[in-house]
Amino acid sequence: MSNQVESVKALIKLREEARLGGGQKRIDSQHQKGKYTARERIAMLLDGGSFEEFDMFVTHRCTNFGMQDSTFLGDGVVTGYGTIDGRLVYVFAQDFTVFGGSLSESFAMKICKIMDQAMKMGAPVIGLNDSGGARIQEGVNALAGYAEIFQRNILASGVVPQISAIFGPCAGGAVYSPALTDFNVMTKGTSYMFLTGPKVVKTVTGEDVTQEELGGASVHASKSGVAHFAVETEEDGLKLIRRLLSYLPQNNLEEAPLQPCTDPIDRLEDALNDIIPDSPNKPYDMYQVIGGIVDNGEFLEVHKDYAPNIIVGFARFNGLSVGIVANQPKILAGCLDINSSRKAARFVRFCDAFNIPIVTLVDVPGFLPGTQQEYGGIILHGAKLLYAYGETTVPKVTVTLRKSYGGAYCVMSSKHLRGDINYAWPTAEIAVMGPSGAIEVLYGKETAAAEDPAKFAAEKEQEYRDAFANPYNAAKYGYIDDVIEPRNTRFRIIRALQQLATKKLSNPAKKHDNLPL
Ligand code: HXC
Repeated sequence: MSNQVESVKALIKLREEARLGGGQKRIDSQHQKGKYTARERIAMLLDGGSFEEFDMFVTHRCTNFGMQDSTFLGDGVVTGYGTIDGRLVYVFAQDFTVFGGSLSESFAMKICKIMDQAMKMGAPVIGLNDSGGARIQEGVNALAGYAEIFQRNILASGVVPQISAIFGPCAGGAVYSPALTDFNVMTKGTSYMFLTGPKVVKTVTGEDVTQEELGGASVHASKSGVAHFAVETEEDGLKLIRRLLSYLPQNNLEEAPLQPCTDPIDRLEDALNDIIPDSPNKPYDMYQVIGGIVDNGEFLEVHKDYAPNIIVGFARFNGLSVGIVANQPKILAGCLDINSSRKAARFVRFCDAFNIPIVTLVDVPGFLPGTQQEYGGIILHGAKLLYAYGETTVPKVTVTLRKSYGGAYCVMSSKHLRGDINYAWPTAEIAVMGPSGAIEVLYGKETAAAEDPAKFAAEKEQEYRDAFANPYNAAKYGYIDDVIEPRNTRFRIIRALQQLATKKLSNPAKKHDNLPL
């Protein structure tokens, strides 16, 4: 056998060794936990056969605690590039079978390399996390590695989409890289994110808490908002990432791919002409409206279980990817509170950063009052949404379905915050506040002194309703561009988006803004 043939054989053997990660025993243990390996995950995520791996032969350089005798090819992270629906993406997958997926200096260098490459090519970065955090034996070098990744996350933010999946433990500072990315997907029952684990919590606060209770997918998807999606299985999570990317451009200089539209653009949705209940206090389901107007009723909801009084997510109109923001009258009457303001603000800013037009559906009675909200800083958090809408330069189409009261009127993509096309249904009510509150302020004393206070207040409320509980007062001033028939909403939005396709708007040059954090 020639030397060359020998060397090729040796290469093949080395590759096989690298593909085994931490070895068959640890791979079996990973499977027993109901988890896939790093390579299996990448294979499921990318188009078949498209993966090209980098740095398969990298090993760590640590000599502490006898580590020089324990090395694995690849050092616990699989990195490279491939395609999703034919579009280039960069990916890293932490390999729990090697030192528990813990991050070393070399491991971090591999991730940084593909992040740098993604920035040069203008392509998304997808991180599949499953790691015990900083590799303890490496000390500060592991911490430095994390910080190098964070720095790249920060510079890539708003330039290329960054998506994180959490498919195992994610502890300590390791959570901050996913937190800096645009979307986090977590699997229920097998993934955890926390700064300090249950043992440290017990020591410091005395609190008894399980990993699941402290930082499981449900907690982060519904309570903290750290996770944008909680999925049942890793397969679901990987499919979701593929679907999510279909709505996004490759980078901030491109537009999301236009999909062929099979849903008639002039489809009338008759049910919408009869969806608003007679009583202003009775809710209806905003999902019905969204489902009725977008292409084929397909809606990819983001943060479904967090602050459900506002709905955000991606859909298409005539094949064009849009971000939808909609108040949900079924939950807390659709009011804006701290969490819903933060949720929607982040979504609006994401869409703006990546040239995705925003369609806003308004039915909002105002901001949620009370000490809990005020002490929690609703003024600042509400201002985030106000700021987000005000700074956006992408096309903005707004439809007011029913209530639009007070500050929430201004915030929800109003004409005054550079809303491009603002429609209203005939059922819209645009006013400083709802009738009962307004009459209490204006006629509190007179009501108390009246012979029949209830009758007096009811008459005044009717007077107020006649004056303000309609869209025509706002339309009179041009704040509403047209009052439209609800069943025709899909067509009118599509027309508006077509008109806005060449929109050009920019904000004053500055180092960066000072968003009220
Ligand atoms: C080195 C680690 C490791 C780590 C796990 N391992 N975490 N090695 N550094 N951080 C190794 C284990 O020794 C073990 O090796 C193998 O990985 C699998 O770990 P197990 O504990 O057997 O697995 P499991 O029971 O599933 O528990 C997983 C775990 C646990 C929950 C992640 O390993 C754990 O609590 N690890 C430490 C988590 C942590 O506190 N990390 C540091 C956070 S601080 P063998 O050889 O036995 O198979 C941090 C700072 C970042 O990350 C700061 C950035 C700014």
